[in-house]
Amino acid sequence: MMFPRAFGAIALAASCLISPSAGITYDPLKPPSYPLAVRSPYLSAWIPGNDVASLPNSNAQFWAGNALVWSVIARVDGTTYNLFGVASPNDDTESGTVTAATYTSTHSTFTVTAGARSFTLDFFSPVSPKNYLRQSLPFSYLTVTVAAGDSTSVQIYSDISGSWTGQATDSSWTHSTSGSTSIFQIEAVGQAIYSQNSYGQALWGSAVYATRPSSTSTLSTQAGPRVTVRKQFVEDGTLTGDYADWTPGAVTGFAHDLGTTADESAVTFAIGHVRKDSINFLGTTQTGYYRATYADNIDAVTYFLDDYDDANTESAELDDLISDAGSDSFGDKYSDILALSVRQVYGGTEVTIPNDSLDTSEVRAFIKEISSDGNINTVDVIYATFPIFYILSPEFIKLLITPVFEYMATDAYSENYAVHDIGTNYPNATGHESSGESMPIEESGNVLFLTYAYQVASGDTDLYDTYSSQLETYATYLYNNGLYPAAQLSLNDALGALANQTNLGVKAAVGLAVYGKLADDTSYLTTGRDWGDKIWTDHLGTDADGTRFLIQYGITPWFLVYNHFPDKLFGLDVFPEDAYNATSDFYPTVRDDAGVALDGSLAWGQTNWQGFAAATVSGDARDMFIDDIWTYISNGLNTAPFSDKYFVTASGDYAAGESDSFRARPTLGSHFALAALSNVNTWSSS
Ligand SMILES: *[C@@H]1O[C@H](CO)[C@@H](O)[C@H](O)[C@H]1NC(C)=O
Ligand SMILES: *[C@@H]1O[C@H](CO)[C@@H](O)[C@H](O)[C@H]1NC(C)=O
Ligand SMILES: *[C@@H]1O[C@H](CO)[C@@H](O)[C@H](O)[C@H]1NC(C)=O
Ligand SMILES: *[C@@H]1O[C@H](CO)[C@@H](O)[C@H](O)[C@H]1NC(C)=O
Repeated sequence: MMFPRAFGAIALAASCLISPSAGITYDPLKPPSYPLAVRSPYLSAWIPGNDVASLPNSNAQFWAGNALVWSVIARVDGTTYNLFGVASPNDDTESGTVTAATYTSTHSTFTVTAGARSFTLDFFSPVSPKNYLRQSLPFSYLTVTVAAGDSTSVQIYSDISGSWTGQATDSSWTHSTSGSTSIFQIEAVGQAIYSQNSYGQALWGSAVYATRPSSTSTLSTQAGPRVTVRKQFVEDGTLTGDYADWTPGAVTGFAHDLGTTADESAVTFAIGHVRKDSINFLGTTQTGYYRATYADNIDAVTYFLDDYDDANTESAELDDLISDAGSDSFGDKYSDILALSVRQVYGGTEVTIPNDSLDTSEVRAFIKEISSDGNINTVDVIYATFPIFYILSPEFIKLLITPVFEYMATDAYSENYAVHDIGTNYPNATGHESSGESMPIEESGNVLFLTYAYQVASGDTDLYDTYSSQLETYATYLYNNGLYPAAQLSLNDALGALANQTNLGVKAAVGLAVYGKLADDTSYLTTGRDWGDKIWTDHLGTDADGTRFLIQYGITPWFLVYNHFPDKLFGLDVFPEDAYNATSDFYPTVRDDAGVALDGSLAWGQTNWQGFAAATVSGDARDMFIDDIWTYISNGLNTAPFSDKYFVTASGDYAAGESDSFRARPTLGSHFALAALSNVNTWSSS
């Protein structure tokens, strides 16, 4: 990570519509932001929890906070109600009344009353940990259901605008049909492949919006100026089938006429952002995994709609598993944290195959360091995510780290330690720039952890077997440099380059022990334990009394040491039980107003490292970390998609419990660290 950009201004502008939430039921809690369509770094639509009360008039937002036009409007007996996303209502329309909001690990739903009828908007982003076809489809579902009630006429309308293409000034669109499926595609004109706008939206590729008639609906379509198209719906309840040329702010609309009915009835839309050329990996174009089967956008989105029932069945099973993984062991609050984290992690990744061969045996995955700098396959970001993959999809660890090993094997990389990233700007995985960050001990330890985590969780040794000589190089680096680290960055790069960082010494000690397991060489395990004793028992990395870890050897303040999580997870005994007991006793004594900081001199903490620390402590300390993260995500102070960085005490303009700069980072996989202690590879593919 580095140079967090300030998105504060945007977040503030977006949160000015806060209305009283009386009468709305939030289950299980009202989060900073609800995922709406979160499937890739470029399909990432959210709605702040504080905007739910005004849902009919609040826009969806891209992860960066910029508005995305995406509306749902309903007519009930001829009266038009705005249900979602209508920031500028047409004449002769009313606002629906929001009564409930829920989220699970895969669905966000909102219930909105409109006259005599009640509608539920179910925003469903599949997470399919082991089915790469389903996981890689860059689409998300919106199902609008009218509940059974009085018999009325009902029409449901929805549209999107060119805001989804990342460019407001020059776009074009097309309409196509495939069977009964009706598909709009919008794309920016004349933009470079792999380029982004200032919010991080892709400027190449297509925004896709599609639907098909349900068994009870008649579908009509229209594209043109927003006010015109919506007016047509307001007045007639059906659209004209005309497609005007794209103009700024214009929309592509669908209307479903359900006729006069008292029954429950539902219609489903698919929204997406598709880039056929997804990633530039060392000069070779990678494309979505699904393209091996569905080579064009129309086939892909049509299949996506066909797959709804199966995807929904899988999502219900996954929601249950996530819920149980938390509540069975550490309580409902832990489940609530996990459920809010899942889409954000998988939605920061993409599963790809080579664009030329479409060979599914050459599958890779890429992850974007969203908001903190946009690097691609940052090794410490993969480290931060790994516990969720350890539980749900160990193969993902391999898919993400393999491009890193492949890059480090090229002539372009000649260091004897592991690299920080494979490109400065997603989706250009064109190699680490010399001006980029370097974290030798950090990343060398991480590639060892990740390789072993994959091996333990999957039972496969192929990753180690393929890259054993690189791993030996990095283990040797740790052996020669790890106990007394020279001044260098750790992944907490905001701290700058510090010498003798305790957390790096810990990483090196545990990294060597892990290498001993990988290489079946107990001498490394012995050295790792030896270093663990020096750092803890001999007080190299602690205060004189051995009650806490310090940030640097012999130098205060204390530090939230989380790098012994792999020691705990893999049962390596690098650190003695006494170290874990002491930190369990210590952290509650330095808890600030809203949680434990990253170190004793900082006003902020990070939920991802608190998540790792929670798994290394017991009893009250563990419950404290869970309670604090839960309170932070439910405190109503924040609007950014789950920021893993927040103030634990008031600082400058920030109150305790307010988030700081990071948004929507996929690093939340670390929240699964506790669950990983008792759940390994527990997901079987649907
Ligand atoms: C990726 O590289 C291309 C080609 O050099 C460039 O046009 C594009 O802006 C780069 N993307 C980002 C996000 O920097
Ligand atoms: C990706 O493959 C498609 C289909 O073969 C081709 O049209 C396109 O040019 C390829 N993209 C690149 C960047 O090579
Ligand atoms: C690191 O700590 C050791 C032991 O305390 C000390 O000898 C050494 O000078 C320190 N290194 C740096 C760069 O401060
Ligand atoms: C650590 O704490 C546990 C639980 O309180 C206790 O049983 C154990 O004896 C302690 N270990 C040490 C080395 O103090």
